[in-house]
Amino acid sequence: MPLCALAPIACMLILGLETSCDETAVAVVEDGKQILSSLVSSQIDLHAIYGGVVPEVASRRHIEVLSPLTKKALLKANVSFEKIDAIAVTYGPGLEGALLVGVAYAKALSFGLGIPLIGVNHMEGHLYANFLENSHPEFPFLSLLVSGGHTELVRAEDHGKYAVLGRTRDDAAGEAFDKVARCFGLEFPGGPVIDRLAKEGNPKTFQFPKARLGKGSLDFSFSGIKTAVAIWARKNGFPEKAGLDGKTLRDVTASFQEAVVDVLVEKTMLAAAETKTRRILLGGGVAQNSRLREKMTHEAQKARLSLSIPSPHLCADNAAMIACAGFYMLQRGIQSDLTLDVVPNLRL
Ligand code: KG4
Ligand code: ZN
Repeated sequence: MPLCALAPIACMLILGLETSCDETAVAVVEDGKQILSSLVSSQIDLHAIYGGVVPEVASRRHIEVLSPLTKKALLKANVSFEKIDAIAVTYGPGLEGALLVGVAYAKALSFGLGIPLIGVNHMEGHLYANFLENSHPEFPFLSLLVSGGHTELVRAEDHGKYAVLGRTRDDAAGEAFDKVARCFGLEFPGGPVIDRLAKEGNPKTFQFPKARLGKGSLDFSFSGIKTAVAIWARKNGFPEKAGLDGKTLRDVTASFQEAVVDVLVEKTMLAAAETKTRRILLGGGVAQNSRLREKMTHEAQKARLSLSIPSPHLCADNAAMIACAGFYMLQRGIQSDLTLDVVPNLRL
């Protein structure tokens, strides 16, 4: 039973829907904070054989899964559709067809139930994952958002007031993990498997290029390092050799990961110093990376900055973060109408 049923104060239940890529996710969140249910149906097995997400396959699976998953999420939260106050849905960035499934379903629910519809930016959702576990991070803060499609350094002055200080000029950090994993014949997605292998490798074995893009730049570039690792892999007989030389594989993945993490941490610290920001928030699938979490924690402590990193399951794609972002939008009077369209390349 939602807590508000016991308390006299009014509470707001938001149903969050997320279908931007290969995860169908539904959540019920109370007052932008209390997760009553958060379910994720992953399509990874479906796409793994192709070595990446196949958009058409993703859309079709969302269609099959979204409605039953929503019913399960309501059941788990112990609420009925009638108790939901608003629907928050990801409308970009992401795969067009996949986004359309979530947005069309959200519109139908909003219309049928006569409740507000809120279109949410997926990356804003990743940022708001931090509001689900912490007692409301104080503004201003700096957020490093690292996912499969994005790498962004964002300064937030207030709810909805963002300045993007830097972003990737080519591959996103997660994309680099995925592509490098493929060079070694490792499974998709590459981030978790590289993270696991790298734990037992020596990160000092190989020196891969770290693109800093000039003094003071807060932009990122990961295509150089990805290419350097790909060339190394080919010269050394991968991916055919996969699994034969465990030690080399652990050392090379550890060296790659260390170079990526170094750049992410360095630029975040530089941005914090330049903008005199004392609080850092991480978000996005790559924020699950154990070395990134460790190194960022160490450097933030050294610089006496506060750091918030959501639990791993809230860094990955989920709908609780979308419901949470939607809650704060609704608080500011922002809602969408039934003309809401998807924006695959939506920016913050
Ligand atoms: O945020 P997310 O779940 O989906 C997108 O919005 O893209 O991020 C997915 C990305 C993938 O590229 C995946 O390889 C990466 O996050 N990832 C990781 C780890 N877990 C997932 N990257 C590095 N280390 C991890 N432990
Ligand atoms: Zn994401």
